[in-house]
Amino acid sequence: MAVNKQTIFSGVAPSGTIHIGNYLGAIKNWVRLQDEYRSIFCIVDLHAITTPQDPEKLRKKIMEVAMIYLASGIDPEKSIIFIQSHVPAHTELGWILNTFTPLGELERMTQYKDKRQETSDKRHGVMAGLLNYPTLMAADILLYQTNKIPVGEDQLQHIELTRSLAERFNNRFGPTFTIPEALVDPVRSQSPKATADAPLAHRTSNGVEKSGARIMGLDDPIKKMSKSARNPENYIALLDSPDEIHKKIKIAVTDSGKEIIFDPKNKPAISNLLQIFGLFTDTATQELEKKYVGKNYAEFKKDLAEAVINGLKPIQEKYRELEKKPDAVIKILREGAESAQTISSKTIKAVKEKIGLIS
Ligand code: AMP
Ligand code: TRP
Repeated sequence: MAVNKQTIFSGVAPSGTIHIGNYLGAIKNWVRLQDEYRSIFCIVDLHAITTPQDPEKLRKKIMEVAMIYLASGIDPEKSIIFIQSHVPAHTELGWILNTFTPLGELERMTQYKDKRQETSDKRHGVMAGLLNYPTLMAADILLYQTNKIPVGEDQLQHIELTRSLAERFNNRFGPTFTIPEALVDPVRSQSPKATADAPLAHRTSNGVEKSGARIMGLDDPIKKMSKSARNPENYIALLDSPDEIHKKIKIAVTDSGKEIIFDPKNKPAISNLLQIFGLFTDTATQELEKKYVGKNYAEFKKDLAEAVINGLKPIQEKYRELEKKPDAVIKILREGAESAQTISSKTIKAVKEKIGLIS
């Protein structure tokens, strides 16, 4: 790994069902970026437990996410892949950052507000870990002196918080952290019409490169496709069978009218399907619009299902292979943790010294 490369860091929490939104919005881009950057990809298990998890299922999910990374083309020869809880510096820096984070800044995070509704239990209300989730995420990023964070558009607010924590820390204690930037896939920019309307990343220009990928729910194109959706018709899981994919796309909601055009404001459902189609086939949405002039939704959906099935097929095949050799996967994760430990220990040592701890 060349030393002069910039660093990228990203992660997926092993909770819920990994879906094509996670793949298209995040993992697919990582695969492309790993040649260009020093790449670190984490399975953020400590983030997963900020919502209630069943221990047995959690253990399985952690391995599932690791295998999805590998099956999608993250190459352990090029990238560091590891489990967050294997590197204690994440919790250490997370705690330290908590002591520098105003409560109000955490309380206004959109993801917190959404999840608070979903997870609050009647007896205890909401757990503190859910509120403190973004400081742990900031620790993940800052420990590796990360330059770029490839994520979906929904994570921009957390990255903004990470940047301001890092800036404030550097101002107070001297240069310690690299100020990271979000790297969001430029999907929308393929269509000039969409870029003009899109209420997306480039508006919050601060620390964001390009505009963003956001895959919406198949049952409700106004809300993003979500891992924790109760209705499985909301998403296409990365491991869904061809039959399930055909069925889910067939019943995906569509807009009124017949035209197949990319117009997120007026035709959110069909625009979402066009975006998915475009990303799986590396085709601009404008090209697809042309191809489907005069065709109906049923024809379009049939082709889309084929495109998704073909796009996922090699990943699913590789996944089934990896499932047969869990020891090899664990070995990759252990080695990844060692490399991550080497890098992050330098940062945590510097932080401790600067704030007056004896390290
Ligand atoms: P999460 O599902 O929240 O753990 O997200 C894991 C990664 O997938 C993050 O980089 C998210 O930004 C990305 N992601 C999650 N949902 C979507 C979506 N519906 N569209 C695009 N990217 C997404
Ligand atoms: N919060 C991210 C999500 O929900 C997951 C995550 C945790 C992450 N730590 C990170 C992403 C660090 C990028 C960098 O998707």
